[in-house]
Amino acid sequence: MAYNLLKGKKGIIFGALDERSIAWKTAQHCRQEGAEIILTNAPIAMRMGTINQLAEEIQAPVIPCDVTVMADIENLFAEATKHFNGGVDFILHSIGMSINVRKNIPYTENNYDFTHKGFDISALSLHRILQTAMKLDAINEWGSVVALTYIAGQRYFPNYNDMADNKAVLESIARNFGYEYGVKKHVRINTISQSPTRTSAGSGVKGFDGFVDFAEKMSPLGNATADQCADYCVTLFSDLTKMVTMQNLFHDGGFSFTGVTQAVIEQMEK
Ligand SMILES: NC(=O)c1ccc[n+]([C@@H]2O[C@H](COP(=O)([O-])OP(=O)(O)OC[C@H]3O[C@@H](n4cnc5c(N)ncnc54)[C@H](O)[C@@H]3O)[C@@H](O)[C@H]2O)c1
Repeated sequence: MAYNLLKGKKGIIFGALDERSIAWKTAQHCRQEGAEIILTNAPIAMRMGTINQLAEEIQAPVIPCDVTVMADIENLFAEATKHFNGGVDFILHSIGMSINVRKNIPYTENNYDFTHKGFDISALSLHRILQTAMKLDAINEWGSVVALTYIAGQRYFPNYNDMADNKAVLESIARNFGYEYGVKKHVRINTISQSPTRTSAGSGVKGFDGFVDFAEKMSPLGNATADQCADYCVTLFSDLTKMVTMQNLFHDGGFSFTGVTQAVIEQMEK
C-alpha cells in the first residue's frame, strides 16, 4: 500500500546490484511512494548486475559512480542537479565490500592494501559523498541521508572481519557529518543497522546462513527483510522524521536488545 510519503521528492540511490539488493527494494518502495530517483553504482557492478532492469521499471536514469573516485562523485551530483533541475531531497548509501572477506583472509592476518580498499569503499565513501554534496550544495534544506550498517560495528561477530571496523567508522561519520550538515542546512544523517539479509554482499561472509538462523532465533519479531528495510528507509526520507538525526537505528526485530530467547535456551538444553 502506498501513502504518497515521498510525493515531489527527488533522491539518489547508491548500491542496487541485483533484485536481492536492499538498495533495489528501497528504490522500488521510494518510487511507489511518489519519489523521482537516480540510480548509481560502480561501473563494474553495472556490467555484472541487472541495474538497467530496475531503471526501466522505475523510470530512473543510471549514472555510473565508483565511490572511491572523487571525480565520479562530483560528476554524479552535477548530473543529478541538471536532471532534477535542483538539489536532491534524499540519498541512500547502500555500499559495502571487503576484499579480506571475499578472499577469506582472517582478521588477524588482514592484507592492508585490501583493508584500505574496503575502508575506502565501505566507510570513507560516505564522507566523500557528503563532502561533495555540501561543496556543490546538492542536498535541499531538510534533506535526509541514510547509510546501511550492521551490528558488527558495535559487537563482535565471527568472520565479519574488517567490515566490522568499516561499519564502526561509517556510523561515526554519519554522527559527525550529521552535526555539521544539520547546523548548516537542516540535513539529517542516520544509519540503519539491518538484520542479516541474504544478498550478494551478505552471502559473502563465511557462515552467513548461521548468522541468519541465529539472529532469527534471537529476535522477538524475527529477522527484518530487505523489503521491510526499504519501508524503514522511506519513513526516514519522508517529512515524518524531520527531527531524527545522528542516530544509529536498529532495524533488526529486537535482536540488538535481546539477551537470550527461549528458542536459544531450548537449543542449548538439547
Ligand atoms: N546483507 C546483509 O546482511 C546486510 C546487513 C546489514 C547491513 N548491510 C549493508 O547493506 C548495504 C547494501 O548491501 P546489500 O546487502 O544490499 O548487498 P549488495 O551486494 O546488493 O550491495 C552492495 C553494493 O555496493 C556496491 N559497491 C561496491 N563497491 C562499490 C564502489 N567502489 N562504488 C560504488 N558502489 C560499490 C556494489 O556494487 C553493490 O551494489 C551494505 O552497506 C551492507 O553492508 C547488509
